[in-house]
Parts: sequence; C-alpha cells; structure tokens
Amino acid sequence: MREFSEDYLHRTREGMWDDSRAALEPLALESRERILDVGCGTGELSRVLAAESPGEVVGCDADPDLIRAAAAHAPAIATVAGDAHRLPFPDDAFDLVICQALLINLPDPSAALDEFARVSRDLVAAVEPDNGAVEVDSSVGAEDALERRARDAYLAGVQTDVALGADAREAFAAADAEFELLETRRYDHVRTIEPPYSEGAVAAARRKATGAGLADDRETMLEGTLTAAEYDDLRSEWRAMGRDVIEQMEARAYRRREAVPFFVTVGRV
Ligand SMILES: C[S@@+](CC[C@H](N)C(=O)[O-])C[C@H]1O[C@@H](n2cnc3c(N)ncnc32)[C@H](O)[C@@H]1O
Repeated sequence: MREFSEDYLHRTREGMWDDSRAALEPLALESRERILDVGCGTGELSRVLAAESPGEVVGCDADPDLIRAAAAHAPAIATVAGDAHRLPFPDDAFDLVICQALLINLPDPSAALDEFARVSRDLVAAVEPDNGAVEVDSSVGAEDALERRARDAYLAGVQTDVALGADAREAFAAADAEFELLETRRYDHVRTIEPPYSEGAVAAARRKATGAGLADDRETMLEGTLTAAEYDDLRSEWRAMGRDVIEQMEARAYRRREAVPFFVTVGRV
C-alpha cells in the first residue's frame, strides 16, 4: 500500500471544495443519514461531508497514523481503521459510501466498489483525479515542462491507474455489483502560490531545490521507461529550477497556478 504523510495530504488538499461544491450535488448530501468515507486519510473530504450533511459521517482508513490524524483534524466524524476490501461494517449500514483519491491507489478498483456496494443501501461515489491532466502555469519558465516530465515518468512506472479520473465509470461498470450509473461531474482543484508566501509554499520550494520531492518518487520512475542516467539529468535540472523558484520568491516575483481535475462518479446500488 502506498503511504501518504499527514503533511502531504494537508498540503495537496488545501482549499479543496472551498470554491465550489457543485460537483457534489448529485450526492444529495442534505438528505443523507449515514455516510462512509473510505480511505479518508486525514479527513479532508470527511470534513466537507460533515459540513454539508445532517447525517453521521464515518471515516475509515487502513493507515492507523492517518486515522489518528483524522480524529484530531475532523472531530465531527467517527473514525475506524479498516481495509477498503473488507470493511468492518454490516451490509447496508450506510446510505452513501464515498472515497476520494483511493481507487487510483488500488490494483483492482472494481473489487473495492463491490465492497462499497455491500455496505451501502443507496449510493456509492468515487472522487478520483486524473493525474495525467494536471496543468501547471509558473513564472519560472522551466517548471511546467519539468513537472510534466516527472509526472510522465511517474505515470509510466506506477502500478495503479493514477490517471483514472472519469474512467472510474468503467470500474463501476466492471464491478460484480450492479450499479445504475448516475452522472460524472468534474471539479478542478486549483492551487495558487503568490506573495505573501505561506510556510508550505516555502517548504515546497526548498524540496524542489534539494531534489527531495523528486527523490520520493525515484524508484517508481525507474520502474517505468526512465533510466538512472535520465533520472540524474532530470534531478539536476529540477534542482536548478528549484533554485530559480527560491530566487523569485526572495524578489516576491514567484507565481504558480496548478489545476488538478477531479471527477465525481456516482452509482446507485
Ligand atoms: C491519496 S490518499 C487520499 C486521502 C483522502 N481521501 C483525501 O482525499 O485527502 C489515499 C488514502 O487511501 C488509504 N488507503 C490506501 N489503500 C487502502 C485500503 N486498501 N483500504 C483503506 N484505505 C486505504 C491511504 O492510507 C490514504 O489515506
């Protein structure tokens, strides 16, 4: 199982769903009684669900550290440790079972959807990004192209479909459970960095300049088509780009906009 740090989840979900919740409308959150958020991580989506629904929200995750973080970060939700393939709940225990960025990490998303259907008496939903379609616009000229190179190398090496996005519909259709597929809606999570820079933005720039962020994904990249020599080239260009980011930050001239498309797919059991 791929592991995620608390810091990574807070950073990458910052501001998500704050600008628009229109893509969540088909979930009819205002009339839900009991919602399960599977692979809840630090509870970033769980908090949104609890804010929009009068019902009880339960967060479940296989990582005990993240479950503890979710309990601290989202006190309005109940938290339970558990595997998406063997949920510790009886049949029909919820009227909505949902996940966000979980299926992209599973080798067989349809198997998890079958388990979601077992514990839901009404809706099952998946909010999945298309990490192959991320768009970056930066005041540092090389940043967009380098991030695309790194992303493409990662996509080629990773074992699961991290570009699942709207294709989650196919995973619903391939499940043994019978779903009536409702609509799929798109939500672009846009994050901008501009002066004054947050601590997180400064830390992210430092991780670029040291190459630490890229190094986290080195093994996955080498699993794909990237050679070790190509990785070393990418890393030295990446670090130079990171130094340019820091230089522009010092002059308060650095600006970056990133848009990650997420797709909300909803099925009725
Ligand atoms: C990318 S994170 C998404 C977290 C959260 N849903 C969010 O959007 O911020 C994926 C989460 O799925 C969890 N996870 C991965 N495999 C799992 C499994 N088989 N059962 C339950 N949780 C799992 C990870 O521990 C992690 O918290």
